[in-house]
Amino acid sequence: MKKLGLLLLAMMMISLSSCGGDNAKKAKEGAEQAVEATKGAAKEATEKAEEATEKAADAADKAEEAAEKTADNAKEAAADVDGKALFTSNGCIACHQMDKKTVGPAVKEIAAAYAGKKDDLIKFLKGEGKSIVDPAQFAVMQPNLNTTKNLSDAELSALADYILSAK
Ligand code: HEC
Repeated sequence: MKKLGLLLLAMMMISLSSCGGDNAKKAKEGAEQAVEATKGAAKEATEKAEEATEKAADAADKAEEAAEKTADNAKEAAADVDGKALFTSNGCIACHQMDKKTVGPAVKEIAAAYAGKKDDLIKFLKGEGKSIVDPAQFAVMQPNLNTTKNLSDAELSALADYILSAK
């Protein structure tokens, strides 16, 4: 009986120790798997982040391009729509036709006289310059300077651009 008891005890020890070994192995495997999984996830996340960064950079580039285009369009629109609109709304058109002399000289004639001299043209419109196109008729033009004098710098610039664009 005593022998059988010892045998049983030994068997229990063996089974316990082998079981413990199994657990350790399993734990190690588990840990390894966890490390692999973490590595994989980290790699994937890095790749996704890189992709997202690239996409964001692309989007930023496109937004910048679009903004530049909008600004360009706005500039162009401001240049001709405003100048032309100002020329009409301030009554200049009543005396200045594009290409023929009426009460006042043709816009083309004014453009030729002021070609490359936008600053002088603006000075004239501010009432600070002197008449060069038809000085003898300046008295007819003079009252209009009270209107143009009160325009903003941007408006005067647009108006001058419009006059100078007549060819
Ligand atoms: C009542 C008619 C009349 C109106 C309205 C009129 N002009 Fe004139 N404008 C003239 C006459 C006449 C001259 C020629 C006299 C002269 O050259 O100064 C002239 C000349 C000019 C000149 C040439 C200036 C120079 O150095 O000789 C410019 C620029 C001009 N006008 C711009 C305008 C603008 C801009 C308006 C609208 C705000 C306008 N005019 C409205 C009659 C008019």
